[in-house]
Amino acid sequence: MSPSPQSIFNTGTAEVLIVGAGIIGLSLALELHERGIRVQVLERDTPLSHASTAAAGMLAVNDPHNPAALLPLSQLSAQLYPRWLAHIHQLSGIAIPFQTETTLQYQSDGNILHFSERSVEPRQLGAALLAAVRNAGIELREHCEFHPSAAPTAQTIVYATGAWQPGSIKIPVVPRKGQMLRVQLPPSLKDLREVHRSDEVYIVPRIYGPQAGTALIGATIEDAGFDTSTHTTDLRQLRSRAARLLPVLADETAAPMLEAWAGLRPGTPDHLPLLGAMTPGSRHFLATGHYRNGILLAPATAVLLADLIQDKPATLDLTPFSAARFPASFAS
Ligand code: GLY
Repeated sequence: MSPSPQSIFNTGTAEVLIVGAGIIGLSLALELHERGIRVQVLERDTPLSHASTAAAGMLAVNDPHNPAALLPLSQLSAQLYPRWLAHIHQLSGIAIPFQTETTLQYQSDGNILHFSERSVEPRQLGAALLAAVRNAGIELREHCEFHPSAAPTAQTIVYATGAWQPGSIKIPVVPRKGQMLRVQLPPSLKDLREVHRSDEVYIVPRIYGPQAGTALIGATIEDAGFDTSTHTTDLRQLRSRAARLLPVLADETAAPMLEAWAGLRPGTPDHLPLLGAMTPGSRHFLATGHYRNGILLAPATAVLLADLIQDKPATLDLTPFSAARFPASFAS
């Protein structure tokens, strides 16, 4: 049984307090630490226990679901990925190979587009990132509930809280549930090396590591609050959608289900993240709302937020991600 969250925290000598130890919070913690900034990370649960490790791990720069305004940020992050993974490998001793290098995007007119898009295994990435953070000596407090009133007034705070609202702070994100299953690949698909994706489903094969020879089939998009239950009818529907792309996946004997789970994407009203100061000039920052692309956007988010915190000029126009686009949503 996990301990109940502590409500008292002490930021000690930390210059920046990061609330949330998902992939975004931990990536930023590492970036700030390497810039010589003392960081403390608070996590109300355990690190990486929610969307970060529920994700499929596609670095889906070209997904037609993505809003157009996301493209420059997505491209920057995908570009940072190889060096970022190599660096985490060096710090953690855990290699994180790209699982796939190509995505086949099925279009409604019957055409199939080929994208040079990669994928990673988020649980492997999470384990390596967490080990890197721990090896770096970054202070990470688990089962520690954040209360805005307990933080020193001048404290720089970053809310990397995913689908959750930190204390009385209201962030315009809602949980968007995604159910997903992992199946054993039948012998006829043992050489599957690409992500297969349509408007309604994606199939992500695992090539390396403990999940090799299996594939993820995802995902639903539901407004179900914080419910993370899975349902046979929904999983069957995902499987039948996948079978429209790769028919053998319809066969539950040939491609048995190994596991199923659901994660909670942090969704904003316009599906773009929230990156920047909560209000102009504030030392309270948002790094959330990554919706379907938290894994992809982690390295760029870390660099851009660290630049903002250090008052460096932004290398990318962050206006589309400003909190100011939802003025009425904030209240504390
Ligand atoms: N990243 C894909 C999804 O959210 O389902």
